[in-house]
Amino acid sequence: MCEFNSATAVAYPNIALIKYWGKRDENYVLPTGDSLSMTLDVMPTTTTVRLSNPLEKDRFSLNGKVADEKTAGRVRDILDIVRAVVGRTERADVSSVNEVPTAAGLASSASGFAALASASAEAYGLTLDGPWLSRLARRGSGSAARSTVGGFARWAAGIGGGAAADPTSYAYAVPAAVDASILVVIVDSGSKSIGSREAMRHTAATSPLYRAWVEATADDVERMQTALAEGDLIGVGELTEANALGMHATMLAARPAVRYISAASLAVLDQVRELRSRGHLAYATMDAGPNVKVLCERTAAVSLADELRIVPGVVKVIVAGSGPGVTLVGRSS
Ligand code: PMV
Repeated sequence: MCEFNSATAVAYPNIALIKYWGKRDENYVLPTGDSLSMTLDVMPTTTTVRLSNPLEKDRFSLNGKVADEKTAGRVRDILDIVRAVVGRTERADVSSVNEVPTAAGLASSASGFAALASASAEAYGLTLDGPWLSRLARRGSGSAARSTVGGFARWAAGIGGGAAADPTSYAYAVPAAVDASILVVIVDSGSKSIGSREAMRHTAATSPLYRAWVEATADDVERMQTALAEGDLIGVGELTEANALGMHATMLAARPAVRYISAASLAVLDQVRELRSRGHLAYATMDAGPNVKVLCERTAAVSLADELRIVPGVVKVIVAGSGPGVTLVGRSS
């Protein structure tokens, strides 16, 4: 058997149509409920993991620059999990390139940790099946569990039970008979926003609306899976927008409030409503930042993108289709 000590993987970001917001276990990154997303075909992350005996410490560079200690620590945690499973000790040199446009203000942790999970497992000689890979990516960033899967992915919260790590919490592909695009609408962001980890903890702990949203989400995810399978894109859109606005409502009700929606985001949400009133199929969703993502039919994506570019405060609109799961693109010994 041939052993490789260097591996490269590519993964794409995903946008949750039904959101993950809140953990029942912080250490193992176990969510309070199931979520469901579409993996995109734009803005990939390419990560190479090279094992190196002489290295005393792991090294991590992002877009050619040595990463800050906090980010490097999160990368090390994934490498440590892999090393513990295979019983190896070599340090690794990890380099990652994110094709997110400058000033996009988009989190790349989902594609980043999916690519890291795949490349590090391969470099250390660990053969992982889909669920294993998704669980490993999950430990870096919850949403990364879904970027290991292409198309539409449902991340199961898991059934809990004995093992603290809960092996039943991973993402898997769900059938979808829709031809959808997602328009990533990048807006000027006024203030620096609070990170998702901290914000979801604070929302769950202080928002009186949080429980109601978690309950509604359990229902939304089932309805979403049915709407996707039936090719009901209007149903998919309505659930997408309702679930996201509900999530942001729970944040606005947190004490003190967490507010990602900016004036420019609201202007985009207004335009989406206006487009619908003119008969277009367009539904909005938002994550832990002011940018808006708009779900639409693939055939209408280019013209709707033009309608969104004219909204004041919009910096850029990126048209995305449905993309693949994490892929190994190279290895060497
Ligand atoms: O995986 P994290 O910690 O970046 O959390 C992501 C949370 C949301 O993007 C807001 C929702 C989701 O399900 O992706």
